[in-house]
Amino acid sequence: MNSNQIKEITLSLLDTFKEAGNIALELRKKGLKKEIKSDNTPVTNGDIEVNNILTKKISSLTPQIPIISEETSSNKKDKNLENFWLIDPIDGTLNFLHGIPHFAISVALEKKNEIICGVIYDPIKNEMFLAEKEKGAYVNNQRIKVSSRKKLKDCLIFTGGPTFTSNERELGLDEYRKISKFLPSPLRKMGSAALDIAYVAAGRADGFFQRNLNYWDIAAGIIIVKEAGGFITDYSGNSDSLNKRNILVTNSFINKDLVDLINS
Ligand code: 2AM
Ligand code: CA
Repeated sequence: MNSNQIKEITLSLLDTFKEAGNIALELRKKGLKKEIKSDNTPVTNGDIEVNNILTKKISSLTPQIPIISEETSSNKKDKNLENFWLIDPIDGTLNFLHGIPHFAISVALEKKNEIICGVIYDPIKNEMFLAEKEKGAYVNNQRIKVSSRKKLKDCLIFTGGPTFTSNERELGLDEYRKISKFLPSPLRKMGSAALDIAYVAAGRADGFFQRNLNYWDIAAGIIIVKEAGGFITDYSGNSDSLNKRNILVTNSFINKDLVDLINS
């Protein structure tokens, strides 16, 4: 698939994002039905409905490319795929469920171990964050870039952790304390990793870190923040073959400081 074809496919998906977002908002108004998944996290009929709309459209556009989705368990484990779509139908499911207007639909395309395009759509604020490899990052057609704050003492940092159900709880608490000490304001917890990353890309916050994420939480954000001039690494500072569970996202200045702090 060449870059023109990718562009065409991405553009033809934008209406589907809006359609899926409207359905999510309608179902939310009517009252969502919740279930608890085997990993103890919630899923709603809204997550499932958005997933169905997206997978139907994407598989009609690119029947040859498999889809890995948070809410479709069957092909999650196939690690040998060269090209695949990654879908998080609702990122921030807990916010969605509690009536907190901060969640997003997130879709990315991976080709040969690299995310080549990503879209994060917030249906409440009608903000569409979008990036393609080497084409820049945008929100609603306006170019975005990361902030230019250089010192942690001036920065606003997001996190979603620590996750108390995880066996890494103590590590999470420890890094939460270590990083908090150097910030002018408390770590901010918005509840959607995808939007946290998009906001760093847009320069609204300076960084984000979280343990125990899943690839679909971050995949679209990877290309959006890179194209906005930011860094996305794992806790060891690797960006190329990054560990996709523990993630650090920053502007171009504070990555090393945060890596050093987390590992101190
Ligand atoms: P989700 O809403 O799609 O489940 C919340 O802090 C952010 O972390 C959300 O993006 C959420 O994704 C993600 N997350 C991943 N695993 C989680 C977990 N075990 N508990 C809470 N949030 C989790
Ligand atoms: Ca998610």
